[in-house]
Amino acid sequence: MAKLNTIVAILIFAFSLGAYSQTTTWEVSADQAAKKNPLEILPKNLALGRNIFKRTCVACHGEKADGKGLIQSTSLIDEKFQKQTDGVVFYKISTGRDKMPPFGAMLKEDEIWSVINYLRVLADPSAIPPPKNVKLELTTGEEIKSITATVLSADSAKLPLSEVDVHFYVKREFGLMRIGEMSNYTGADGKVKVFFPEKIVGDSEGNVTLVVKIENNFLYNDNETTNVKKWGMPLLSHEGEFSRRALWGARDKSPVWLLLLANGIIAIVWAVIVYVIYNLFRIKKAGRIFFK
Ligand code: HEC
Repeated sequence: MAKLNTIVAILIFAFSLGAYSQTTTWEVSADQAAKKNPLEILPKNLALGRNIFKRTCVACHGEKADGKGLIQSTSLIDEKFQKQTDGVVFYKISTGRDKMPPFGAMLKEDEIWSVINYLRVLADPSAIPPPKNVKLELTTGEEIKSITATVLSADSAKLPLSEVDVHFYVKREFGLMRIGEMSNYTGADGKVKVFFPEKIVGDSEGNVTLVVKIENNFLYNDNETTNVKKWGMPLLSHEGEFSRRALWGARDKSPVWLLLLANGIIAIVWAVIVYVIYNLFRIKKAGRIFFK
């Protein structure tokens, strides 16, 4: 009987633990709740919010913010959550509770506001217009090596589009190397320019592939244009160095002294083993005299 009581007590305790965070209300004072979000729901702010969310929140709240991360937490997209004002959400993110860390010390206020905007859009994508196609052009300046991206509307009017974040890359053997800033926004003429860094190694002739991209943008669909330029330093061939016997060579190009040393050690070890076995037989033979 005592045993059953203990089991019941443990079960009740376990259930109350599990239910705790769902049932206790999270009190937020009226003036905290009334705090206004100073950031508009704009692509610029959303990109920042998404970066922070992916970096800091996904582990617990999940990619879709449905609470199904590696560590179980709560949904940030369901109706119950979304009914709360920005001020309430701001307070909860800043102060945290239980397993929810207090982010007030880690993130700037604007960063928290931008995450809130991102959560609003995640829950209701219609809060922003669907992404549009654009025309993306790449031109190069020759005297001082520079790359200009021009972003125009995809329709026949070809209007220049400003405030579009363009990413610049140089293609490397494994993937792309970013050049310019993390964000490069087009001006009123739809153009943005970055300079080509010095001392970039190209292929054997010095050719490099320049890549401009619009990616992960909330207003425009992904787009990419490339151009090949002879702007890099020619890749020097190391043929000669690798074809002679040296430590960095392949197996069949190993130095002679290393071959002798390694095989010598193996030969000595085998010699010892053979010698031991030979002596074992001699001992056995010698013993026969006594046991005849
Ligand atoms: C270590 C895991 C963890 C991380 C990281 C985390 N959260 Fe949480 N979060 C939780 C848990 C667990 C709760 C539920 C806490 C409670 O109700 O006591 C929660 C609750 C919340 C709430 C309140 C939910 C509600 O129902 O009102 C918000 C808002 C929130 N998190 C936002 C964020 C944001 C934004 C980030 C990233 C900057 C983040 N969280 C990072 C675990 C985490």
